[in-house]
Amino acid sequence: MRFPKDFVWGVSTSAYQIEGALAEDGRGPSIWDRFCSEPGRIARAETAAVACDHYHRLDEDLAMLAGLGVGAYRFSIGWSRVQPTGRGAPNAKGLDFYSRLVDALLARGISPMPTLYHWDLPQALQDAGGWCARDTAERFAEFAQLVAERLGDRVPRWITHNETFEHSVFGHAIGTHAPGLTLGLDSFAVVHHLLLSHGMAVQALRASLPGSVQIGIAQSMAPARPASDSAEDQAAAGLLHVLHGRQHVEPLLLGRYPQELETLGLDLSAVRAGDLATIAQPLDFFGINYYNPNYVQATPAGAPVPLMEAEAPAQYERTEMGWSVVPQGLTELLLGLREQYGDKLPPILITENGAAMPDVAGVDDTRRIDYLHQHLQALRAAMDGGVDVRGYFVWSLLDNFEWAEGYRPRFGLVHVDYANQRRTPKASYRWYRGLIAAQR
Ligand code: FCB
Repeated sequence: MRFPKDFVWGVSTSAYQIEGALAEDGRGPSIWDRFCSEPGRIARAETAAVACDHYHRLDEDLAMLAGLGVGAYRFSIGWSRVQPTGRGAPNAKGLDFYSRLVDALLARGISPMPTLYHWDLPQALQDAGGWCARDTAERFAEFAQLVAERLGDRVPRWITHNETFEHSVFGHAIGTHAPGLTLGLDSFAVVHHLLLSHGMAVQALRASLPGSVQIGIAQSMAPARPASDSAEDQAAAGLLHVLHGRQHVEPLLLGRYPQELETLGLDLSAVRAGDLATIAQPLDFFGINYYNPNYVQATPAGAPVPLMEAEAPAQYERTEMGWSVVPQGLTELLLGLREQYGDKLPPILITENGAAMPDVAGVDDTRRIDYLHQHLQALRAAMDGGVDVRGYFVWSLLDNFEWAEGYRPRFGLVHVDYANQRRTPKASYRWYRGLIAAQR
């Protein structure tokens, strides 16, 4: 399996899932702090108060990254570390932390790739309406500008948002993630403000950064498959394709929402003149997070959303998340995007791919190796089919706080013993290191 010489090999993490130190150095609370404090929200009532204690163990984790031989590291910037209430002057200590991280990465020859928003809105902005409010998009652009002013000279690739689909659906439509809203299809304003804020942030970054800087977004993408052959389930899969694959891509690449949204009767009044042009800023790359196809079925009439997740067919292996292992889904997805968007599709980075597996004895994770290997083969097949893919990032460097699922699902190449914060590289870490070295 050969990849181009300049192919970018990396790993991904996100601030809230690894940092801990939630009340340190002036950080303000985020919607996830609030959500975790509410009874029944997180499995086993776990919280991210300590997580991987990455905030205090930067050196050790950088050594893990360097040992892996990755060319790039995708991490996220905790908004409420930089602006404790989501607005106003920056908190110097918060910016310092990310500045140190960037310097340390560069010193080790690793290219920093920050994501500006990985779901951790400052709680004060939520109190003012959160992503339901248009003002939050303006605040995000300001935050982007502050970060760019401090890190801009040293960061070659930027990601605005992580997965606007998951954040809008889990956080705002069905309420299984922070901020726990259950707006159903009325969450369209959230979708729109997230996408709008992306466009505004791209404008802010371009205005303050050198022209060589690359800017993109990381969207979850997955083929939508019906749970059965029934007309209802097939319609549900078609609808999911509109609400996910198209709603969270077409505004970015084509400057329009799928027409079907109107037929669905969505309240689109959040969209103002000029917004779509703002959203459709030229992108240097399109980040894709792929894990598995989404199987869906229809819900009974009157349900808050007209479709629901369904079990994948029994023939497929499952991960600890219950997600099906379907590598061909990645090939299918990429070829489909190429066919649908042609030259409008920017070069692709796979910004997340990985698996939560029951780690035998903690570290002997052959099933994770198989998963990654098969997905790289599937990626190679798409590239052979003409899709322009420039890099691949494993989710994740470390086992970490998997949102509402807490610490049980382990996605890391490095095992974390949460009792003592001991890091132990798994077999997959050595496998990935070998693969990267062999591609040089
Ligand atoms: C993605 C998220 C990431 C992680 C993986 C498993 O949806 O972006 O934070 O939780 O799933």
